[in-house]
Amino acid sequence: MLNSLFTGPVFEMARDQLLVIANHLSIPEDERDWLLYPKRAIVVTFPVRMEDNRTELFIGYRVQHHLALGPAKGGTRFAANIDIGEIAALAIWMSWKCALADLPFGGGKGGVAVDPRALRPKELENLSRRYMQEMIPFVGPRTDVMAPDMGTNEQVMAWFMDTYSMYQGVTVPEIVTGKPVGTGGTLGRREATGHGVAFLAFRALDALDIAPATATAIVQGFGNVGSHAAMGLAARGVPPGRIHAEIFAGLAAMTPGVVGAVTKTPHQPPLDLETGPLVSFARSGITAHWNPAVYQSMLELAEACDVPVRWACRTGVCHNCESGLVSGKIVYEPQPLDLPATGNLLICCSRPVGDVVVDL
Ligand code: FES
Repeated sequence: MLNSLFTGPVFEMARDQLLVIANHLSIPEDERDWLLYPKRAIVVTFPVRMEDNRTELFIGYRVQHHLALGPAKGGTRFAANIDIGEIAALAIWMSWKCALADLPFGGGKGGVAVDPRALRPKELENLSRRYMQEMIPFVGPRTDVMAPDMGTNEQVMAWFMDTYSMYQGVTVPEIVTGKPVGTGGTLGRREATGHGVAFLAFRALDALDIAPATATAIVQGFGNVGSHAAMGLAARGVPPGRIHAEIFAGLAAMTPGVVGAVTKTPHQPPLDLETGPLVSFARSGITAHWNPAVYQSMLELAEACDVPVRWACRTGVCHNCESGLVSGKIVYEPQPLDLPATGNLLICCSRPVGDVVVDL
């Protein structure tokens, strides 16, 4: 039963991680499920009045993973494709984070399956308030404290807090974290996650003995966390010209660029061993030798030559990097989920077999 309720790749990732640690710590088999599966999982559906007077039904979740160390604590995400498995995995990770930081909280997480960018401001307010109304019996400062996450922000937390407070008849600011500073929120909270990412990246650079000035950073996603991570990296010495940002969600910049930098003219790669198959980027007028010891994919060779190319996932899923294969043969490593159209290739996960000409 539990196996069919909590499913999906994100939940499996959490399960696999727990297994590694459980083996390492020799946690008895009969205690593992108890550590993995959530204490409580709440699913609600609720109607929201839209601006055109229609009523739309939404599905919302809240998972309280463990309450042994204190009230559950964790974000609420508004995202189109969430499900209970993903929310449960995020709640599990919140439990681990709180425990590792020695905080008196268990892990919680929640969300609504909705694309918040598709909502008008009033619709977003209606949805936020109604979701919190549905959650009132299950949350509270001593039970479960909410926070912002993907697709939610300080404003949404203010709506949550106000809705909960109206029900209680007193102001209850401690029902959420991440609220506006003027209503009791914490200074620096908005920037904290992004700066945490930058901080960890610098710990890794240190361990790898890489000087920040010579590092290249690729920030995947450029919302609150990604933008502050980029600023944190720049503040610690990564040159802004080496910080690449990838913007998701169908915004204009699906093609990642260097933030604030001018587009470079395509050029020969820094090191060409003059041996191996020839890869020609026809539109850019660049021909270079394929060196499998340096490049994992033709996308990496294109980047080394500053050949303009669109990409997003780099793993053969999104097809943003799909380009014309003018001539030659390629192989895929890894194999993409779906093959591109006939005569095209996915440059992010392909390697040449002999000389190739690509329409880039
Ligand atoms: S970048 Fe997504 S398929 Fe190549």
